[in-house]
Amino acid sequence: MSTTFQLDTSTSRANPTPAPMRRLTVPKIRDRKKDGVTKEPLVMLTAYTARQAQLLDAHCDMLLVGDSLGQVIYGLPSTLQVTLDMMIAHGAAVTRGSYHSVVVVDMPFGSYESSPQQAFDSASQIMAQTGCAAVKLEGGEAMAETISFLSSRGIPVMAHVGLTPQAVNVLGGYGARGRSQEEHAKIISDGKAVEAAGAFAVVAEGVIEPIAISLTQSLEIPVIGIGASAQCDGQVLVTEDMLGMFERVPRFVKRYEDIASIIDKAVTRYAAEVRDRSFPGEEQTYQPKK
Ligand code: KIV
Repeated sequence: MSTTFQLDTSTSRANPTPAPMRRLTVPKIRDRKKDGVTKEPLVMLTAYTARQAQLLDAHCDMLLVGDSLGQVIYGLPSTLQVTLDMMIAHGAAVTRGSYHSVVVVDMPFGSYESSPQQAFDSASQIMAQTGCAAVKLEGGEAMAETISFLSSRGIPVMAHVGLTPQAVNVLGGYGARGRSQEEHAKIISDGKAVEAAGAFAVVAEGVIEPIAISLTQSLEIPVIGIGASAQCDGQVLVTEDMLGMFERVPRFVKRYEDIASIIDKAVTRYAAEVRDRSFPGEEQTYQPKK
């Protein structure tokens, strides 16, 4: 393995990397959409650990350290119990494991909603302690002042509209949004408000396809869809969902693998070999030197 490395001045990180690469930047992501058109859609996946980041990095434009880690990693009932400390620990691991993608870290519930100042305090801790390039927060018009406060103080913000899981108790569930005229109008006005406030991109989650398309066409910033439309400027999925780690996933998830059964098969063999004492074998045991 080569030991060459180059100092990545765009992120001020000096970790050795076997294959030196320049990390993408937030302006490059923002500028992928030109005059309302994104020729090459943006690829984004969630990542929560360094090893996962290493495996995804070369394929993605952005890695999202989503607060979905609450359910996926910690087995929590929703994202509401996720803390700033959890996001910082996983955000730092993902930054360490990646060299190419823009790392975006979710701001957890309760860490940004009460004031722009509270949001700045939380976001600056996330940025300083993880080395990520941007934060993501949920909300449209209601968060516009906060987005403007952060982005004018050096913190790039990705917004998140439509189905916003941190608001599950207000929304009453995780169903798709935009079925009524009122919801439709709100999603579009939320998107316009976060764009005007300075968000560099916006996630549109769980919205009916015509709204996802009209949001994408109405905004100059990239719209990243999840449960939205292939016409969005990019897509994001929870990696464990698309790899088939869970039996139950939302309808909008396409499973590209069945990792759960691969793990089940491997562990079945391991357990059998431990029980019949065929593991460890000759190749896995140390003998005295002759
Ligand atoms: O937390 C998360 O993983 C997210 C994506 C589903 C967009 O916000």
